Amino acid sequence: MAVIVAVWREEKHDEMSEAANGTEPQLDLGWMDRTGPWDTRAEPGKYGLTIADISIGEYGEAPEVSDNLTGRPRGAAARPASYRIGAYAVRSKNEIWLDNASFLYEEALQRQWSSATDVPWHTIEPLPDDVEQAECQLATFLTEVEFVAGDVPARWVSLTTPDFYEPRQVLLAQVMDESRHMDVFRKRALANGGGLMQATGATAGFVGSIDLSRDFTEMSSRLHISGEGAVLTLFRMGELMAQNEAEKVIYRLCAQDEARHVAFGVMHLRYMSETAPERREEIHCYLDEAEGGLIGAANPVGQLTPTSESMAIILGGGKEHFDDGMNKIIAIRRRQLQEYRKRVVSAGFGERFENGRSRVAQLIEEAAA
Ligand SMILES: [Fe+2]
Ligand SMILES: [Fe+2]
Repeated sequence: MAVIVAVWREEKHDEMSEAANGTEPQLDLGWMDRTGPWDTRAEPGKYGLTIADISIGEYGEAPEVSDNLTGRPRGAAARPASYRIGAYAVRSKNEIWLDNASFLYEEALQRQWSSATDVPWHTIEPLPDDVEQAECQLATFLTEVEFVAGDVPARWVSLTTPDFYEPRQVLLAQVMDESRHMDVFRKRALANGGGLMQATGATAGFVGSIDLSRDFTEMSSRLHISGEGAVLTLFRMGELMAQNEAEKVIYRLCAQDEARHVAFGVMHLRYMSETAPERREEIHCYLDEAEGGLIGAANPVGQLTPTSESMAIILGGGKEHFDDGMNKIIAIRRRQLQEYRKRVVSAGFGERFENGRSRVAQLIEEAAA
């Protein structure tokens, strides 16, 4: 702080000496000559002044292809001397666009919560050792997964032209949400006499592949539809796993955030499908890959991992009720498959469940029976 004040004083001194020497710069006011749209009066609507409300006239029009490499806010006049600050990879609208971005963003703003004060931490009471160890193992896994969910969208924000500011805002809000998810599960691990357990390596498997995506839609189908879709179902069934009110609240609030992230992916795929039908086959390939992961996950008994073991102990209520817990995991996996199907249908790719392409269609039928 002292350094900043010193620099400011120096600047002020130079300015005053300049004025005293009669070399004070003349007003330029060139910026007042701007010829863009003026007299814009956005009116607040039912939900206040939202970004949908300011999406009016020329300010509401995102270009199909953006040539903005300088960080210029959409609708502002260009400045010829601007540096090219961003070699943005995402400059075609259909690569990232969705129709309800402003709604998702405003909802994210209105529904922010505090992991410090909105969770009734005092309701956590001592648990049997095996259940506490399992809670801490699951919390370790979720902290790992949430790390990826925050890290990857953050990178894509920096790769997207500022002309597509609406989806960027939603992704920035997601980064804040994931930051909170990361800390809330870390807090849970440290709140009841346990601690962080074994890293599961989740970031090296399917979750890790999210970060290897070289295209935004490829990334979004892996992250929003497949990965976060599965996590959303898990959080929605958090009631089954929660040992106390604090954990119930954590799962409920996280599910609320995840629902927005998943909605982003569904709405983006829908937009892409409608505006770039030539990419539909490519997107089906991403879904083929996602279903490969779901098939593995659908049979947790066959491949026990620290995550499935800890979940079974939590759901069963202890090591001695492991099999009961496993049955509950199978119920969760079934629901994950059903919700996955619903999202893919909603995104406009439902034909894969009718034409034999989907590798999980049969499992979904069986789960519904
Ligand atoms: Fe999350
Ligand atoms: Fe998320």
